[in-house]
Amino acid sequence: QAAFIRQGAIQCGFCTPGMIMSAKALLDENPSPSVEEIKSALARNLCRCTGYVSIIRAVQEASEMMRQGIKSVSPPSLLERSYQVVGQAVARKDAVLKAKGDTKSADDLFVEGTVYAKALRSEYPHAEILGIDTREAEATPGVIAVLTAKDVPGHNGFGLIFPHQPVLARDKVRYVGDAVALVVAETQDIAEEALRKIRVDYRELRGVFTPQEALLPDAPKIHEEGNILKHHKIRRGDIDKGFAEADVIIEGRYYTPFIEHAYLEPEASLAVPEKDGCLTVYSASQGVFTDRDQISAILNLPKEK
Ligand code: FES
Repeated sequence: QAAFIRQGAIQCGFCTPGMIMSAKALLDENPSPSVEEIKSALARNLCRCTGYVSIIRAVQEASEMMRQGIKSVSPPSLLERSYQVVGQAVARKDAVLKAKGDTKSADDLFVEGTVYAKALRSEYPHAEILGIDTREAEATPGVIAVLTAKDVPGHNGFGLIFPHQPVLARDKVRYVGDAVALVVAETQDIAEEALRKIRVDYRELRGVFTPQEALLPDAPKIHEEGNILKHHKIRRGDIDKGFAEADVIIEGRYYTPFIEHAYLEPEASLAVPEKDGCLTVYSASQGVFTDRDQISAILNLPKEK
């Protein structure tokens, strides 16, 4: 744990306890592992943040500490802060909690009276919603509410560039997983049971599955405004002059792979209505102000609330 803290091998900290357990198992068996052996021992542990370099360094440092017979390091000494450390590598404030697996993620939070919300999601990539029957779900004991697009009190949309991705789909769904309805219930099991009782009548529409298909003139429009989110021109220099002066011209079509980093922490939030009419939202996010702005627009609440 100390080596992970000192090497800065902890960012969000979600993978850290598992990494440390795997590292410990490796070092118990093999006190002086090579880099390849460390990589192989950690191959089943995913980290979405660090890029692994600092993690491998941490295992090497732990190996060195164990060889020197260092059994423990006191957490306060790792976190000492004074002006003498300016210019030094300083352990992050929450590193000890994260190294020990004691930090709370949004999914761990609980307040008295917590109820649970779960979304019913579209099974179709593109379909018109002809009707949603929530009566049976609403009648399920323990269900507090079943919400659809008509219940969104403010702007039914979110998004950083254009806030037009519906919170709950109104007339049609646009991808497999689009949220159609939300069940709020006393327990997660009841919420899941009620989700299965919602009947949605869909009319399937032709979908688009690649950016190239989406640009074809007869492609179905996913959003009414069309399938181009943003047209961004990049022009640098004089291409004709460049070609004329070049010794070699290589032209090709290049693709980058589709990559989405693996988020390990369950996507979850806790929203606590406060006595003064404010709402406190606990969530895994890197953009608290954009979250606040979007939530206030969706709930039709002033931003200061
Ligand atoms: S520090 Fe590894 S997942 Fe974030």
